[in-house]
Amino acid sequence: ATTLGAQAAQSGRYFGAAVAAGKLGDGTYATILDREFSMVTPENEMKWDTTERTRGSFNFTPADQIVSHATAHGQRMRGHTLVWHSQLPSWVSSITDANTLRSVMNNHITTQMAHFKGRIYAWDVVNEAFADGSSGTHRSSVFQNLLGDGFIEQAFRTARTADPAAKLCYNDYNIEDWSAAKTQGVYRMVRDFKSRGVPLDCVGFQAHFGTSGPPASFQTTLSNFAALGVDVQITELDIAQAPTAAYANTVKACLNVSRCTGITVWGIRDSDSWRSGVFPLLFDSGGNKKPAYNAVLTAMGGT
Ligand code: G3I
Repeated sequence: ATTLGAQAAQSGRYFGAAVAAGKLGDGTYATILDREFSMVTPENEMKWDTTERTRGSFNFTPADQIVSHATAHGQRMRGHTLVWHSQLPSWVSSITDANTLRSVMNNHITTQMAHFKGRIYAWDVVNEAFADGSSGTHRSSVFQNLLGDGFIEQAFRTARTADPAAKLCYNDYNIEDWSAAKTQGVYRMVRDFKSRGVPLDCVGFQAHFGTSGPPASFQTTLSNFAALGVDVQITELDIAQAPTAAYANTVKACLNVSRCTGITVWGIRDSDSWRSGVFPLLFDSGGNKKPAYNAVLTAMGGT
């Protein structure tokens, strides 16, 4: 096939992009999105500081714009994200009572998932809960500090009840290298959840890489997680300077793991990227295909 989405579909996978509601009116942007991509992740529009900026008052307008666009173009949606320490309104981070926070968290998950019920393929239920560095434990956050280690399990159980048909994912960065303490910490959590029947269906590997691309162990990491009984996905791929070999290696790592069900790049053109200064995406700022685009398409067997 001649597009990323169509070629990924030949092996039953999707190829997605992070999308900003404010750019859907940009013709170049929308043309590339609808030609190439079969999955959409809202870059910011489903985050807590947008959807529940004040307690109990929900705003789904920008997210709904993205979902409508995706539905109209036959694209599936990844929901991003329900419980995250960042882009969290201060009314949440300043809660000091555990019972209040538990009910606020559960209400946020339940209300947001109910609004989008039936229209989301997979949710990033919990995002980036593990610490960087050598500890392999959860990071400090209002959720961790008031509710303890159990907040992640609580979030997943609430999510399953809210939309039993959606796939429920844990998503994080710097968990691509098998030898990293953070990777091992997440792996232990997934193993524990699967052994105890906590509802977890998938793990997202963000894959924000430097110029050297994925660590040599990336495919091993994907297959070790998959062996625990979860799907794995590459959820926020971008690579500084977009070297062709680094992109091809990343794609091949996914293709070589049967439970790696799809790849999402974190933006469309370099100018759309959260790190536009390192030109990490597959299209240049004019919307032209870069060499990395061809490397990715070729790595998937397309031409
Ligand atoms: O919308 C406001 C605008 O009103 C305001 O004037 C402007 C001034 O700073 O800020 C705008 O909000 C920005 C928002 O992006 C929308 O453009 C925020 O400041 C900015 O912090 C925010 O950055 C986002 C970042 O997450 C926040 O943590 C990036 O777009 C987004 O790409 C990035 O995505 C994250 C994933 O969600 C999780 N994994 C890491 C990834 C990269 O950081």
